[in-house]
Amino acid sequence: MPYFETTAGRVFAVVQGEGPPVVLLHGFPLTHRMWREQMVPLSANHQLIVPDFPGFGQTPLAKDSLSIDDYAIVTFALLDVIAPQQPVHVAGLSMGGYIAMGMLRQAADRIRSLALLNTKREADSAEAAQKRLAMADKLLVEGSRVAAEAMMPMVMAPDVNEDRPALFDFVRDLMISQAARGLAVAQRAMASRPDSTDLLAKCAVPVLVVAGSEDKITPPQGMAEMARDIPGSHFVTIADSGHLSPLENPVAVNEALISHFQRYP
Ligand code: MLT
Repeated sequence: MPYFETTAGRVFAVVQGEGPPVVLLHGFPLTHRMWREQMVPLSANHQLIVPDFPGFGQTPLAKDSLSIDDYAIVTFALLDVIAPQQPVHVAGLSMGGYIAMGMLRQAADRIRSLALLNTKREADSAEAAQKRLAMADKLLVEGSRVAAEAMMPMVMAPDVNEDRPALFDFVRDLMISQAARGLAVAQRAMASRPDSTDLLAKCAVPVLVVAGSEDKITPPQGMAEMARDIPGSHFVTIADSGHLSPLENPVAVNEALISHFQRYP
């Protein structure tokens, strides 16, 4: 099994392909499996590294409290083992994007390029943070079904929910199969994440911003504004897609990511 012993604990990650390393960071409440449509196309020319964060999927959770920066530390510790001393392309979706920003904050010199998909730079408002803490408590009492019930109605474009039952079931089952404790820890971490507006405005790393045309959680307008404020960034809107663009319109997302990685070899 692809487990790696790192200075930040044991981490499960799928590693595939050869070439400049690319790490793909999953969203909440998902796992490395949300990148299933990227595995073959992206690993043709890159070493693809696709972890489960602590408490998600198959990576154990050693602590009851983590910050977004802690997930970034775990990711760098994994890269120390798999691709030591190599600058890496980092692509993160939503919570994975927050963690990618955490990596940028910690060690920009280790990042070859950044792709921020369906995410946002702002910290939570007091009200949003409060809702997350309430959700964390509820998860611990009622289980991971709570997260699936809250997210499934809005996580994908309406047409996808209606016309692609196999994809709908895949995402719902992935959410439900998560351990509630890991989800609660992540909700608390997201509630206290720092604002990354200034960090991104001063960013010297090449950035691609990817929005979903019908994303209700991180709407494309906000992502366009984020891209506008990042020096030299590229912005792509993925058609026919809500918040889970890599699953909803993988062809367009793969094209955007591959072109981005090729621009910064
Ligand atoms: C995600 O997709 O990772 C979540 O929507 C992130 C969040 O709750 O802010």
